[in-house]
Amino acid sequence: MSLNAQTIASDLAAALSAIAGANTLDELKEVKSKFVGDKSAIAKANQGLGGLEPAQRAELGKVIGAARAEINQSFSERERILTEIRDAKVLLEERVDVTLPTHRVNRGGLHPLTILTHEISDLFVGLGYTVAEGPELESGWLNFDALNIPADHPARTMQDTFFIEPLESGLVMRTHTSPVQVRTMLDRKPPIYVICPGRTYRADELDATHTPVFNQVEGLVIDKGITMAHLKGTLDFFAAKMFGPEVTTRIRPSFFPFTEPSAEVDFFYKGRWVEWGGCGMVNPKVLQACGIDTDEYSGFAFGMGLERTLMVRHGIADMHDIVEGDVRFSRAFGTGHR
Ligand code: PHE
Repeated sequence: MSLNAQTIASDLAAALSAIAGANTLDELKEVKSKFVGDKSAIAKANQGLGGLEPAQRAELGKVIGAARAEINQSFSERERILTEIRDAKVLLEERVDVTLPTHRVNRGGLHPLTILTHEISDLFVGLGYTVAEGPELESGWLNFDALNIPADHPARTMQDTFFIEPLESGLVMRTHTSPVQVRTMLDRKPPIYVICPGRTYRADELDATHTPVFNQVEGLVIDKGITMAHLKGTLDFFAAKMFGPEVTTRIRPSFFPFTEPSAEVDFFYKGRWVEWGGCGMVNPKVLQACGIDTDEYSGFAFGMGLERTLMVRHGIADMHDIVEGDVRFSRAFGTGHR
C-alpha cells in the first residue's frame, strides 16, 4: 500500500476505533500490539518514511507523528478508564463483609461440676496433695466395714444405699468418697496427703436440693503429729479459696463412725453459717484396719458436697439446673478448657 496521508488517516481511524472498542484491559492489550506497537500499521508507515523524497518525508512525517501521538494519548486514556473500572469491580467483588454471620463450631465445654473439681484438685495439688480416685461401684466392706460403720448403722439400710444385685455380691454404689481413704491407706505408706473428688450415690429423690447421684470431695492427711488444728487450718484455707478471702469456717461436734472426734464444718458466707460437710480425726480403728501404726501416726479427713459448694457460691437455687445438663446453664461457667 502506498504511503500517503489517506492511508495514514485510515490507520489512525482504525487504531482509534479499536482502542475505543476495547472493553477490558486484556482486550486493550491485544489492541496495543496490533495498532499501537512496533508492528502496527502506523509504525510501519513511519519506517516507510525513509524511502521518500525529503519534502514528502517532512510532510508525511508530521502527519504520522501527529497520528501516533493521538493514538498513544487515546490508548493511555482508555487504559486509565479500564483500569478504574477493573479496580472498582475488584473492590466490589472481593469485598469482605465482616458483619456476616460466620460458620462457628461451638466447642464442647466441661460441666460446671467438672470445672469445680479441677479447681479444687489444683488447689490441693498446690499444697502438695495428690489426687486419688476409687470406683463408684464399691465393695460394701470398703464403703462401710473398714470405715467402722457397723451393720446396724442407718447408712446401711435399703433407704440410703443402692445395693447391687445379687445382694450376696456385697457390692454397693458408694454412698460417699470415704472408701477411697481406706483404699489409699491400704495402698500407700504415710505420710499421706490426698484429695479425692468423685461421684457418690444415695437413694434420694431428685428435688431442688437433693440428687441421688452427687459429688463429694474427700480430703485425707496421715502424718506424724497431725492435730485438729491442722484440720481447721486446712478447712479455712479451702473455704477462703472457694468462697472468698474473708470466709472462715467453724466446726461443730458431730458423729461419724470413721472419725473421732467428728465434726460438722460450716462456713460463714454473706452473713450466715452454711453447712458444708463432715470432718474429724481419722478413727484409730480405721487406721489400724489399714495397718497404720497409731502410736506413730494420726490423721484428719473431711468430705463435702460439690453440688452444695457450687450452689452456694453461684447462687443456684435449683439442683435440677446442675443435673439436667442444659448448655444454657453450663455456658455461664465457661468451657473449663485451659
Ligand atoms: N463421708 C462423710 C459423709 O458422706 C463425710 C466425711 C468425710 C466425714 C470425712 C468425716 C470425714 O457424710
